[in-house]
Amino acid sequence: MEVNELLESLSWRYAVKKFDPTKKVPDEKFEAIEESLRMSPSSYGLQPWQFVVVKDEELRKKLQEVSFRQPQVVDASHYVVLAVKDRLLMEDVEEYLNFIAKTRGIDVSVLDGFRKSIVGDMIEGPRAAMVNYWATHQVYIAMGFAMEAAALLRVDCCPMEGLIPGEYDKLLGLVGSGYRTAAAIAFGYRSPECKLQSAQKIRYPKDRVFKYL
Ligand SMILES: Cc1cc2nc3c(=O)[nH]c(=O)nc-3n(C[C@H](O)[C@H](O)[C@H](O)COP(=O)(O)O)c2cc1C
Repeated sequence: MEVNELLESLSWRYAVKKFDPTKKVPDEKFEAIEESLRMSPSSYGLQPWQFVVVKDEELRKKLQEVSFRQPQVVDASHYVVLAVKDRLLMEDVEEYLNFIAKTRGIDVSVLDGFRKSIVGDMIEGPRAAMVNYWATHQVYIAMGFAMEAAALLRVDCCPMEGLIPGEYDKLLGLVGSGYRTAAAIAFGYRSPECKLQSAQKIRYPKDRVFKYL
């Protein structure tokens, strides 16, 4: 990819307020966006997330009610809720280590040091009390990956934090599942009536946000 292609996709992307409800993202492109979520990096590689693709239109209407009535929830082609783990148990760590061992064809005992690091930090360390907070940081990396992947494919999106997580959890059946709603992303195509598409980008200049030492 040429540098200018990347730069163009970065300025082409904006948070769409009004989607064209008649335009659907083709399966191949949406599956690539799903892959960008799945392939996102996370601390220790633990992937403390679940991506809930809400296809049911009635459910999306109910989610809109608890998303400050934002139209993107129902008008976008695809709506993905980013849920994160609210606790990390020893069995989660064991499942993960066994998965690595199987995938890489190694004995799980090779990972004893790695297990100790994770347990000392996330199960017995101070971060054990804030797993949900930690996991939310991780899922925002996935959000960034998906937004950029979509832009490169010229698929529009809107990252969505304007929602009531507890109400989402109830509607999505997440209560008691070990996962909680963090945010969502609406994917689709901008409506010609979406005024923000021609608005100037609001970004501080480079010398304001970078420091070189
Ligand atoms: C984590 C996050 C949550 C956001 N939540 C919403 C939202 O609920 N509704 C909305 O219309 N825009 C939302 N936005 C869009 C931001 O307002 C927008 O990204 C920002 O103003 C920069 O503009 P741009 O993305 O169009 O360049 C959110 C953005 C981020 C990164």
